[in-house]
Amino acid sequence: MNAPTILVFDSGLGGLTVHAHVARARPDARIVYVADDAVFPYGRLTNHELEDRVTAVFDRLIPLVRPDIIVIACNTASTIALGALRARFDTPFVGTVPAVKPAAAASKSRRFSVLGTPGTVRQEYTAELIRSFASDCNVTLVGAPRLAALAEAEMRGEPVSDADLAAEIEACFVEDEGGRTDVVALACTHYPLVLPRLELLAPWPVTWIDPAPAIARRVVQLIGERSAGAPVRTDGRALFTSGRALLPSLREVLSARGLPDVAVEAMPPGLTASVPSVN
Ligand code: DGL
Repeated sequence: MNAPTILVFDSGLGGLTVHAHVARARPDARIVYVADDAVFPYGRLTNHELEDRVTAVFDRLIPLVRPDIIVIACNTASTIALGALRARFDTPFVGTVPAVKPAAAASKSRRFSVLGTPGTVRQEYTAELIRSFASDCNVTLVGAPRLAALAEAEMRGEPVSDADLAAEIEACFVEDEGGRTDVVALACTHYPLVLPRLELLAPWPVTWIDPAPAIARRVVQLIGERSAGAPVRTDGRALFTSGRALLPSLREVLSARGLPDVAVEAMPPGLTASVPSVN
């Protein structure tokens, strides 16, 4: 497909970890990144609230952006609402779901952890992935209540303490006579934003699995490779549904990531905005 329009969607800044790989795979694409920051974090919502919210948001976004393909760069939204989105809209969706299969393939100790939002780890979708792909593994599900908000704070240049980050990942590391955790699947797209710090804070080295490269490969499978000679675009657009944290430092980060055109696009009211607290 020539110069496709790709919509990359998340509750906040986490989807930037997926956006980076998608933009690298199709540098000629018109990319619109959408952060539904008006109701961040999604991990605190009930399934019903989240499904209603993303449906309402896409009712507005699809005519506005006219994407050829949509990447739900959010495990929480994908595990809860991907089925409903695919049933409602004709545009193809690529989801982001916990990387249980690659984690099982990588684990030598057969003990790995899935680190996600509280919303993602309690989903039947996640349980089914484990039954299908990791039935011979000992899997620890860890719902981190604050890690997505801490990653956002770090992106905005605010101080985030080692102790706060360490507390969020502590439960991933399990050791007993059967062996110890050797793989952690990052089942929230926000977490790779702070991966260098998580690596330093881990009580022992593990393989961290970030699904973003696999998602970019799936996008290319669906829309094809860049045609030879297709010009590279540098005018990526980022839309925020509230924009309340759009500080100059964040605008700089977005611009450096190929998203210089930043705007606020308010979405239908419904859920009230929560001000993410990192303290
Ligand atoms: N980045 C999102 C995910 O992959 C969720 C963060 C949140 O809004 O709770 O699950």
